[in-house]
Amino acid sequence: MRMDECNNMMKQSVGFLGMGCYIPEKIITNYDLEKMVDTNNEWIVDRTGIKERHIAAPEEATSDLAVKAAKLAIADAGLTAEDIDLVIVATETPDTKFPSTACLVQHEIGATHAAAFDLSAGCSGFVYGSAVASQFIATGLYKHVLVIGAETLSRIMNWQDRNTCVLFGDGAGAAVLGKVDDGYGILSIDLGADGGGGPHLILPAGGSRKPASHETVDACEHSIHMNGNDVFKFAIKIMPKTALRVLEKAGLKKDDIDLLIPHQANVRIIDSAAKRLRLSQDKIMVNVEKYGNTSAASIPIAMCEARTEGRLKKDDNVLLVGFGAGLTWASILVKWHK
Ligand code: ACO
Repeated sequence: MRMDECNNMMKQSVGFLGMGCYIPEKIITNYDLEKMVDTNNEWIVDRTGIKERHIAAPEEATSDLAVKAAKLAIADAGLTAEDIDLVIVATETPDTKFPSTACLVQHEIGATHAAAFDLSAGCSGFVYGSAVASQFIATGLYKHVLVIGAETLSRIMNWQDRNTCVLFGDGAGAAVLGKVDDGYGILSIDLGADGGGGPHLILPAGGSRKPASHETVDACEHSIHMNGNDVFKFAIKIMPKTALRVLEKAGLKKDDIDLLIPHQANVRIIDSAAKRLRLSQDKIMVNVEKYGNTSAASIPIAMCEARTEGRLKKDDNVLLVGFGAGLTWASILVKWHK
C-alpha cells in the first residue's frame, strides 16, 4: 500500500455505533455491609458516594455478563454477530486465565468471523480497548469491533477487608465501534501508564510470580490489595491531566466539553477532576452511587445510562476518562454522531 493511501485510511472517522449494558440483579447496600464488616453507611457515602452495588449470581461468570451486554450493543448498532470482525474484552476478572473471556464471548454470541482477545488495563480497560478498536477500523482492516468492559469483582474481593469490599461491584458494558460520518466520532486519544505504581493496586497471587498455594489462599492473596490513598492521589492528579491532553490534541478547550463520562470509582475523585476542568454538575455523568466501582465496566455502563437519560446528543463533545490498575490512564474525546 502506498503511504498516501495509508494516510487516507487513517483519516477514517470512527465512532460508537451501538451500546449495551448488563447489571446483575442482586444488590448489596451499605447497610448490608454494616452487618459484614466494621463499616457504616455514613462513612461509605461520605468518602466514596457509593450507596449500593450489584453482585453477580453464583452461576454467573464475567463472560455471562459480557454476552448479555454484547448482544444488546450489536442489536443497538443494527448489526448481527456475524458482522463483528473483532471482539475485545477488557477485564481483570476473566472466567479463566485461558482461554480468554473474549473467545468465550465470541463463541457464545456466534461472532463466527471475529478474532478475539482480552485486554488488561484495569479500570482504564474499556477506553484502552476502544482506542485499539479505533485503529483497526481507521486503517480499514476491520469494519466493526465489539469492545466490552466486564467484571465480576465480587469474586476477587476479601469480604473481611473494609478498605476494599465497600468499593467494588459487578457489571458489563459493551459498544460496537465502526465508521461514522467525517467530522464525527473519536477526535483524539490519550493513553498512558506508570508501571512503578503497580503495587498500589494488585491481585498478588495466582500468576507466575506467586502461583496459587495453600499459603497464598490463607494469606488472602487472591483478592484485591490496594493502597487507597496512593491510588486516590494518583487519580486526582492524572484525571485532569489526561483530559486536558486529549482536549489539546483535538484543538479544543475545557469549555467545549458537553459531557464528561469519568471512571466511576469515587465521587470525590470525580468532583476534584470536575473542579479542575471547571465543569458544572450537569456536564458530568455520575452513577457510582448505584453500582460502586465496576472497573472496566464502569465507563460503558455510564455511557449507556447517559444515553438512556438523553444526555448524549448529536454534535456533543463527550470526554471519556479512565484510570486504574497498572497504574494506567486513558482518555478519548468523541464528537457524538447520532
Ligand atoms: N468503613 C469505615 N472506616 C474505614 C473504611 C470503611 N469501609 N475503610 C477504611 N476506613 C478507615 C481507615 O481504616 C482509616 O482509619 P484510621 O484513620 O483509624 O487508620 C480511615 O477510615 C481513613 O482511611 P483512608 O484510607 O485515609 O480514607 P480515605 O479518605 O482515603 O478513603 C478510599 C479511602 C475511599 C479507599 C479512597 O482512598 C479512595 O477512593 N481511593 C481510590 C480507590 C480507587 O479508586 N480504586 C480503584 C482504582 S481503579 C481499578 O483499576 C480497580
